[in-house]
Amino acid sequence: NALLRLCLSVLAVTILVLAAGNATAARIIRLGIVTTPGSAQYICAEKFRDLVAERSQGSTQVKLFHSGSLGSETDILQQVQMNAVDMAIITLGPFDTFVPEVKVISFPFLFRDHEQADEILDGPLGREMLSKLERAGFKGLAFSENGFRNLTNDTRPVTTVDDVHGLKIRVMESAMHKELWKTLGANPTPMAWPIYTELQQGTIDGQENPLSVLWVYKLYEVQKHLTLTGHVYSAHIDIASLVWWKSLPSVDQELLATAMHDAAVYQRQWNRQNVVGFLNKLKAAGMEVVSNPDLSSFKAQAEELKHMDIFAEPNTRALLDKFLN
Ligand code: PAF
Repeated sequence: NALLRLCLSVLAVTILVLAAGNATAARIIRLGIVTTPGSAQYICAEKFRDLVAERSQGSTQVKLFHSGSLGSETDILQQVQMNAVDMAIITLGPFDTFVPEVKVISFPFLFRDHEQADEILDGPLGREMLSKLERAGFKGLAFSENGFRNLTNDTRPVTTVDDVHGLKIRVMESAMHKELWKTLGANPTPMAWPIYTELQQGTIDGQENPLSVLWVYKLYEVQKHLTLTGHVYSAHIDIASLVWWKSLPSVDQELLATAMHDAAVYQRQWNRQNVVGFLNKLKAAGMEVVSNPDLSSFKAQAEELKHMDIFAEPNTRALLDKFLN
């Protein structure tokens, strides 16, 4: 009897301990980005982490995997697709291999300015685009931003599209970006991020990215010429694994979706407030800047993309027409 009582009380304590453990154990969300602390993606990820901790009163915690610790953006997308990573913030570029329609957002010179980008991406067209991701196993939550992309190179100042001729330009792993730079006369080379060594060793002459990236990754050390082309609005899509997302109670989905939306809005403001500061720092670091290139020459050539095969698939074509009108 004494033995039975002892066994029962041990069992009761074990159950209590397990129950208490379960009640207090925080849910851990794994979120992947390819870039380092200080980058546009990190600012958004960090804000999301803090909002989730605060709003869930610590019961949900976001763990950031950054600086390439999960591989390239393509690798991260695959891991989210397979539900090995819960969430990610990914640049539009590598995305179009998974969901071809999203390349529409990166169509050159599509958005006049940040306000227009917000209006469209936060509106029905943006939501339609996010819904397309489900087919590929992603839940699209919000758009944050990398910013408008600008061309840099270490060979010559670029003021008109003719100056691009023959430059070996690294592009993101995206058929659209490759096609764009081919159309502009460059010799595009798709490569995963980061690319400092390739620029330093001269494997490539140039690259294109928003100003914050040039600063955070010290590209001014290996690139002399910066041209403010602003040719592509580089959005991030903030996603979750669809399988994982569907497994969450709806109150948690609501909390996470709102937190990601708020983090994205915060990060876009942060990005915009810092553009001039980054430009000044890059100039002070010795970059020679062409501030007013002949953009009409770039636009005229980039227009040709509209008629190319990459936009021929009917769904993509239909979305492109909607975005362009
Ligand atoms: O050029 C890229 O690959 C992207 O713009 C980067 C630097 C990863 C930032 O999102």
